[in-house]
Amino acid sequence: MFKKVLIACSCFIMTIYSFGQDKNNLQENISTVFNTAAEQYKTLLDSANVQMKYPRSSKNGNLTFVGIEDWTGGFWPGALWYMFEYTKNPKWKEAAIKWTETLESNQFNTKHHDIGFMMYNSYGNGYRLTKNEKYKAILIQSAKSLCKRYNEKVGAIKSWNDKPSLDGKDTMRFPVIIDNMMNLELLFFASKITGDPTYKNIAIKHAEKTMQNHVRPDFSSYHVVDYDTITGIALHKETNQGYAHNSTWTRGEAWGFYGFTMTYRETGDIRFLNTAINMADFFINHKNLPSDKIPNWDFNVNEVGYTSPANAQSNQLTYIPKDASAAAILASALLELSNYTGTKGAQYKKTANEILSSLSSKNYLAVAGTNNGFLLMHCTGNANRLSEVDKPIMYGDYYFLEALLRTNK
Ligand code: GLY
Repeated sequence: MFKKVLIACSCFIMTIYSFGQDKNNLQENISTVFNTAAEQYKTLLDSANVQMKYPRSSKNGNLTFVGIEDWTGGFWPGALWYMFEYTKNPKWKEAAIKWTETLESNQFNTKHHDIGFMMYNSYGNGYRLTKNEKYKAILIQSAKSLCKRYNEKVGAIKSWNDKPSLDGKDTMRFPVIIDNMMNLELLFFASKITGDPTYKNIAIKHAEKTMQNHVRPDFSSYHVVDYDTITGIALHKETNQGYAHNSTWTRGEAWGFYGFTMTYRETGDIRFLNTAINMADFFINHKNLPSDKIPNWDFNVNEVGYTSPANAQSNQLTYIPKDASAAAILASALLELSNYTGTKGAQYKKTANEILSSLSSKNYLAVAGTNNGFLLMHCTGNANRLSEVDKPIMYGDYYFLEALLRTNK
């Protein structure tokens, strides 16, 4: 009996000890990453201030920038807000304000669905941290602009304008991409802040449609679903950035999972929670997820039963690149999901911490002074266009910092 009690006590002490160790390691990782970010983003900030454009990635060793129209513009001020949130250093706040406010005219942008990424990550974080009333009005107008792309008959927001499918077989007239789940957060915010349920109702309709047509029975996902605006039916289910129409593009799966987790937070609707849980489980238990938990850009590259569409160029690659940005998005969403899932949540948190530990290692985290001023290496933007393959990308950094801040909360 005494022996049994002794064993139980030592197991308990070991668990507490290893939990303490994990926590210490995590704290160390967080401070390493934010210290690295302070050095890297000083360089990025200097270059961005000269160019007056948004840092996005790198090409042939050079930093690449984009203008106000690009979907990624909001990640730069968003990352600056996260720097301010962690360090409380006013210099990051000043930079975040400056770069957020450059995006102001996008509040009227109705050209694509990405206004959520552009405005909620910049002005949304700015409003959360400063309660600046001017930002609130801009966010509400941004939500109005996003709603202009909603089609009642389809029950979804149109992501892109008319677009030929990758294999050139058809022109998609109402393409909706799984990524669009991320833009719904702006709509939930607008309803909360105005008391007008219109925005939220549109977000819910869109999430329901996505659950119905993008999410497959095994909880993997299609990248693009194209709808008929007369009948509302789904005409085509295909890929644009994934390996094959029936494959799972890992960033797309991560966008979907993050979006359903957030939609559950905003609605309390158990259907969205179940979808999020099943998508998370599909991802983290996937047989092709490498042991460091940083996925390849698509789960099914070169697998039997998956064919790369005509015009996709990924088969020119001589290796299968990873996508650290997908891992960062996944880690951030797992940390949120862990709060809603009781005992299962501990597993999600553990996996998120494993991902963050990989991303904070020298395999993925750049040494200060390298990587064109970004934090993460080995992200993949669009392998089908051989664009930003195995490169730093601003949104990878953004979700990495977000995830680290979430572990701190
Ligand atoms: N939303 C586009 C991408 O994830 O590349």
